[in-house]
Amino acid sequence: MTDPKTYHVKSYGCQMNVYDGERMAELMAAQGLTASDDPNAADLVVLNTCHIREKATEKVYSEIGRLRKDGRAPMIAVAGCVAQAEGEEIIRRAKVDVVVGPQAYHNLPQLVADAAKGAASLDTDMPAIAKFGALPARRKVGPTAFLTVQEGCDKFCTYCVVPYTRGAEVSRGFDALVDEAKALVDAGAREITLLGQNVNAWSDGDRGLEHLIVALDEIAGLERIRYTTSHPNDMTQGLIDAHRDVEKLMPFLHLPVQAGSDRVLKAMNRSHSRDSYLRILERVRAARPDIALSGDFIVGFPGETDAEFEETLSLVEQVRYAQCFSFKYSPRPGTPAAEMVDDFIPDEVASERLQRLQAALNAHQLAFNEATVGKSCDVLIERKGRHAGQMIGKSPWLQSVHLETDAQVGEMVAVEIVSAGPNSLGGVARVKAAA
Ligand code: SAH
Ligand code: SF4
Ligand code: F3S
Repeated sequence: MTDPKTYHVKSYGCQMNVYDGERMAELMAAQGLTASDDPNAADLVVLNTCHIREKATEKVYSEIGRLRKDGRAPMIAVAGCVAQAEGEEIIRRAKVDVVVGPQAYHNLPQLVADAAKGAASLDTDMPAIAKFGALPARRKVGPTAFLTVQEGCDKFCTYCVVPYTRGAEVSRGFDALVDEAKALVDAGAREITLLGQNVNAWSDGDRGLEHLIVALDEIAGLERIRYTTSHPNDMTQGLIDAHRDVEKLMPFLHLPVQAGSDRVLKAMNRSHSRDSYLRILERVRAARPDIALSGDFIVGFPGETDAEFEETLSLVEQVRYAQCFSFKYSPRPGTPAAEMVDDFIPDEVASERLQRLQAALNAHQLAFNEATVGKSCDVLIERKGRHAGQMIGKSPWLQSVHLETDAQVGEMVAVEIVSAGPNSLGGVARVKAAA
């Protein structure tokens, strides 16, 4: 195999993977490779994988099969959480050239060079956060950018692979993050979303995430700050207060609860109760009454009874989320819940529960969207719409807003919301907001 000239990075899974995918692309570009939009034409395809549910993992193997179809033989690098979880098993199961874990991808150029000599190469080491110092500087980004501030998880929810694929909780240093945020703004970002598997567990000495948010608030040219994903146990009063005090911090909080029954939460090892979770939301709403709340749910966790599932529905009725993600429980090898085979819920039961939950969540999402009709807000333009002159941006509450405007991508437009659907809003541009 010869050295690749063109590359294509395909990311699956969470936003942290999207961030890692961007960093790997920058790394390849710094090596002199050219980006290719077409995975079927690139010499090197990096599959940046997700292991969170079984379906996510199976996608990888079918994608490798597709890339190898018609006798094409690109170099294939498997990165991300499947790489970490399955390691050499991937090389045994499929024809791939490189396997690189999420904490080792700064070594990708060397691994690619080794693979070009013939044998498959693998690196799934987990040095604490070494990669960030070894990556090239940020150059060009869109109006919205991700910034990973924290990685890993110490919570060990019994269903979840993340503590195994991403390792222990580690925070990047305050100064390096402020520098990277400034570089992102210089490169075109107007909104930064701080990322971490437990982003609100971020700390540097006695500084918590709210201190980092305050520092970013002072960066000229940055208009909006968001963060995700938070864990209820790390939701400090300081961070809650930031939603009242920091102007650029957007009124949106993704705070997964997973289930509404205390027995299930305990079996999940969630270390918060239904009540303690609801009390946090009360404090958040007191600090920022218009905040949009978001969450994640798992239905059909081993042993979940009908009555326990009803408690999830009643929690959802109580909170009235602006948007949510919900999943059927998927047993993951190596996790404690995957051992509870005697208590597995039949798929038909889980599917029916998921349908009922999603019907409720969708109704609330529509109601939340409808409640914004008549309001005025800033919309950050992110991309062109389908029709000429139509642009699509985001409201402060993370809703997609479609509008006719001559404003360009990256501009902030003052908009009146005039219509609402389940997944987006319609707006009318007022005057352009002052930059
Ligand atoms: N760190 C975040 C998100 C982790 S993964 C948190 O603590 O909430 C994103 C979501 O995937 C989780 O919130 C959970 O709802 C879902 N998830 C994780 N493992 C799962 C599994 N084995 N089966 C189904 N859904 C799962
Ligand atoms: Fe997974 Fe739980 Fe950690 Fe979230 S907090 S990443 S669900 S173990
Ligand atoms: Fe998936 Fe890994 Fe993210 S398992 S959700 S890519 S942390």
